[in-house]
Amino acid sequence: MNKHNEIRVDAASKISGIERYTKDLRIKNALVAGTVRSSRAHARITSISFDEKFDWSKVTILSAKEMHNNFVAIIKNDMPYLAENEVNYVGEPILLIAAENETMLIEAKKHIEIKYKELVASTTLKVAVDRNRAEDLFEEILLENGEVDEVFKSADTIVEDIFETGFQEHVYLEPQVVVAIPDGNTIHIKGSMQCPYYVQNAMNELFMGTEVKVDVTQIMTGGAFGGKEDFPSLICGHVALLAKKTGRPIILSYNREEDIQFTTKRHPSKIHAKAAMSSDGKILGLDMDILLDSGAYATLSPVVLARAVLTSFGCYKIPNVRIHGRAVKTNITPSGAFRGFGGPQSLFAIEMLFEKVAETLKIPVWQIKKSNMLSLGDKLPTGQPIDYSYGLPQCVEKVLKSSDYEKKYNELKKYNENESAQTGILKGIGISLAAHGCGFTGVGENRIKAIAEMELLSGGKVLVKTANTEMGQGVDTAYKIIISKKLHLPFNDIIIEEKNTSKVPNSGPTVASRSTMIVGKLLLDNCEQILDALSLNHFEFSLQDFKKAAKEYFKNHDKLVVQKEYKHPNFIKFDENTYKGYGYPVYSWSANVAEIEIELTSYQVEVKKFYTAHDVGKAINKQQSEGQVQGGIVQGIGYAVYEALCIKDGEVQNRGFRDYIIPTIQDIPEMHVDIVEDAYFNGPYGAKALGELPFVGAAPAVASAVSFAIGKTATKIPLTPEVIATLIENNNYEH
Ligand code: MTE
Ligand code: MOS
Repeated sequence: MNKHNEIRVDAASKISGIERYTKDLRIKNALVAGTVRSSRAHARITSISFDEKFDWSKVTILSAKEMHNNFVAIIKNDMPYLAENEVNYVGEPILLIAAENETMLIEAKKHIEIKYKELVASTTLKVAVDRNRAEDLFEEILLENGEVDEVFKSADTIVEDIFETGFQEHVYLEPQVVVAIPDGNTIHIKGSMQCPYYVQNAMNELFMGTEVKVDVTQIMTGGAFGGKEDFPSLICGHVALLAKKTGRPIILSYNREEDIQFTTKRHPSKIHAKAAMSSDGKILGLDMDILLDSGAYATLSPVVLARAVLTSFGCYKIPNVRIHGRAVKTNITPSGAFRGFGGPQSLFAIEMLFEKVAETLKIPVWQIKKSNMLSLGDKLPTGQPIDYSYGLPQCVEKVLKSSDYEKKYNELKKYNENESAQTGILKGIGISLAAHGCGFTGVGENRIKAIAEMELLSGGKVLVKTANTEMGQGVDTAYKIIISKKLHLPFNDIIIEEKNTSKVPNSGPTVASRSTMIVGKLLLDNCEQILDALSLNHFEFSLQDFKKAAKEYFKNHDKLVVQKEYKHPNFIKFDENTYKGYGYPVYSWSANVAEIEIELTSYQVEVKKFYTAHDVGKAINKQQSEGQVQGGIVQGIGYAVYEALCIKDGEVQNRGFRDYIIPTIQDIPEMHVDIVEDAYFNGPYGAKALGELPFVGAAPAVASAVSFAIGKTATKIPLTPEVIATLIENNNYEH
């Protein structure tokens, strides 16, 4: 058994197809649910009529009027389960229908007519910003450090531009699906989700003051990427309400079309960034204005913006900064969590700002990035010192070497000057440095007080109780490795409890790449507690010793359940008003090099090679870590060049994979992945967060390579052929 390359515990069941997802549950007597949605971006509902030609006794209808507490509990509680008088985006749920089958559902929908009175809508970020209304500001953050105005007055050169990133759809393999099963006064909710306790909390609020009790179980989830972080709370409310009304099990499953149009997306961003530079290429000051398009309701926007602000200075030492961030309401499908959570937007801006600086000062971009990069002991603009677990310099060395960067940089510069290149294929090589703050932002982890629990079972097995969910990232395997190493138990003796809120404690959501670093560490502490109880903690012991000690223990006791609650080390503090202190307890780092080609008749960007080095503290499972890196990069390539969501009058135009293009196997470049392990003292075996970082650095590396190829900074993603054409032919885009 190779300790660093374990076969995933979910591999066989998934590859063979025997894994059971929510749609595979055979639920007797279930009704199917459907949603009647707004066709307007912003309007008052003036009437809803039910055609008499349809036999309404065959279906059950639910409207906002019958509801008790009509808000989805997230951060601001501003989003209703069902719109009552006013709709705020195309696709907003207005009515729910439960029917015996899909055919009847479709038939019923055809016989409902909703009339509206149109209201002024902000269907683009620009319109919303121009309207400048206080009520459209979901969140505003200001982070200042040093003397920004002074330094801009005295700088040798000022470089500025506007950087834009687009919407992105999660495209998890399994669309949204949840079920509710009534059982006396209890409703059991099951489904595809990241955070059973988020749903539990939302249901507690929804049924507050009634007799209804709810428990929530995560069923094996076919990918999530943040898309099943906040959104399931809405649809679980829908099925729970219908289950309560009909007394029958309800299944709600979105098809791909519905999923693409009406579930959350990555926040588009528009970032105005300005750098004050010395003549020798040192950055003296950064002034950045970040706008995130939040869509119609706040969902997680305040925390997404917080991460955007705290990622905006990238991996650089910048003595003077002013970062102003705003999350703005528009009349579009709400934006939500997506791998990177605000980080990819602002990291794109800072990386491309450095690209522009390099272009302006005529210094190779890798030199300018390297010479401004943080050194061990430097401080971030928040005042947080980077004085432990800083593996970025090592990542940069590795990636420059693996890609043979300098040599190729010079070769490709020459190649692009050829006439054949100018009319045939342009080539480029680009570089990005990326950081991802590990776990929740600021005081988040202290606030949620994650709990993990472990129980010693007779026979010397252990039962592991956390709320952290498997969604393809491999958390179940990571936990088994962490525990197995400590207790010397084989995987079969480590049993992972069902992720059911009546069986596992609240160890926090499966987000912010926190499961291994934060909850994995709690499990390691649980192991210590068990070893203490078995008096094994200070000895070398074998599996046999462990089993024997367990047997002895149960002679005198009937139970051993240990619990541990998470708290940051004391020096990790953050001030939410000034944004000073430790934004995160530690950061994971990456350096990335992309090689691309642009074919000049189609203007299609093709990513040919991708080299990356990631500092993850410690790879709990080497192969799985590389898998996360590869997957994140492919998703980042999609974000950079292919994925374009088209919105017209507030309505998402894309309907499926014909018009929402994601990378296929043919678009995946040759990849070289290095893992760097600069241990974090408070992670299990030194591990830090890994799940999101690979995504964050990918798009800027690709855009940097595109900038190289076309000889000017690419300020906007996705770099679709249309955008590339405009860039090459017109010099600039319209912002
Ligand atoms: N990998 C797979 N295969 N599927 C996913 O849904 N989600 C990503 C990342 N990697 C995801 C994934 C996101 S958004 C997060 S926050 C982390 O996994 C969460 O898991 P972790 O805490 O175990 O890193
Ligand atoms: Mo990940 S966006 O934090 O679910």
